[in-house]
Amino acid sequence: MNVASAEESTQPLRVVIGVGGGIAAYKAAHLVRYFTEQGHQVRVIPTRSALNFVGAATFEALSGQPVATEVFDAVDEVQHVRLGQEADLIVVAPATADLMARIAHGRADDLLTASCLVATCPVVLAPAMHTEMWENPATVDNVATLRRHGITVLEPAHGRLTGTDSGPGRLPEPEQIGQLALTVLGDRTAFSRDLEGKRVVISAGGTHEPLDPVRYLGNASSGRQGYALAEVAAQRGARVTLVVGVTENLPTPCGAEVVRVKTARQMQAAVMEHARTADVVVMAAAVADYRPAEVAESKMKKGSDADLTTVHLTENPDILAGVVEARSRGDVASTTKIVGFAAETGDAESTPLDFARKKLEKKGCDLLMCNAVGEGKVFGQPDSAGWILRPGGEVIEVPQGPKTRVAAAIWKAVCETN
Ligand code: CTP
Repeated sequence: MNVASAEESTQPLRVVIGVGGGIAAYKAAHLVRYFTEQGHQVRVIPTRSALNFVGAATFEALSGQPVATEVFDAVDEVQHVRLGQEADLIVVAPATADLMARIAHGRADDLLTASCLVATCPVVLAPAMHTEMWENPATVDNVATLRRHGITVLEPAHGRLTGTDSGPGRLPEPEQIGQLALTVLGDRTAFSRDLEGKRVVISAGGTHEPLDPVRYLGNASSGRQGYALAEVAAQRGARVTLVVGVTENLPTPCGAEVVRVKTARQMQAAVMEHARTADVVVMAAAVADYRPAEVAESKMKKGSDADLTTVHLTENPDILAGVVEARSRGDVASTTKIVGFAAETGDAESTPLDFARKKLEKKGCDLLMCNAVGEGKVFGQPDSAGWILRPGGEVIEVPQGPKTRVAAAIWKAVCETN
């Protein structure tokens, strides 16, 4: 199958899932599920050590396919070249330090490494190991070699490892790995390392503006686009601060520092604090434009003397315009790039793009991502589409696709902005 079109295709993909010998091997079972539930054909190739953690029967039952480990298994089918040649995508999870070293050096001493060596499809490694191993210069060199060879090495998640220790080296959640791997399949440059060492601040989700201790005004933002931007930025090498309002329950993007807020004013304080040292600020959050002018200290009661049928509102600060203003004052570096979002429906006279052009001018940011919303589009959905606008009038069309792919298009445009 043509790899570039594989993700768009309704045809099942041939996915090889390689499993290294680490405790996180149990998560590979869920990864197999992630792909089979989407109708893809999965072949699991565990290493010998992986079978110490999860038995072949588990992978055979979940994939509905035989499981082999050695190059001398089913020799008549020439599996050691066939599986790698025929695959549309290879995902290795967990990729241990030893397995990455072997793939980096072109070894082919088991079925998995042999398959990686013959593959021309995207190969995505999801490392999992103790922090010391991940940060060891030998592993750092092997990761650099693998990336130079065109293999995608995902950033590990931060958090609890096998013992009591904690740090970078944790395997991301299976759904995250699956989504990231499909993003690479659709665009092999999605995780190019052009944000290496850059500091980025991204806001995500909606805000809740309280009326009383139990009620609030809110909106339907899921936070998915902001999370996807954080995930892709981290995979492109950035140091990410994600300022999160109210979202669906989403896995923490690998390596991101998460700052939790509820209201627009809390979000403004967090974004401004981190914008001072940022190379890029992206306002993907759906910030409430207004908040109740008065917040009752105790729960408002039906039938009380207070008029509960009218809510007086007061305007919230415009965070995006505030960051642009701070840049012109010199409180934010003049080199900091600022990206806004616009969710537009259009009306009888104007298209969503017309509204977006006006918004870009009004906000004064460097890029504006416009989504056409309404009728169940965009909000809470895994997919999105739209246009990236620049102040000079340039419009980059972003085709319908997963939000991680939209995020990759936005980061590409950011990196091409002077
Ligand atoms: N935004 C912000 N602070 C606000 C409102 C919006 O920073 N108080 C940011 C959003 O995060 C987004 C951009 O401004 O990046 C546009 O948001 P949107 O709600 O579409 O813009 P508004 O100026 O509120 O215009 P509209 O009247 O269309 O709602």
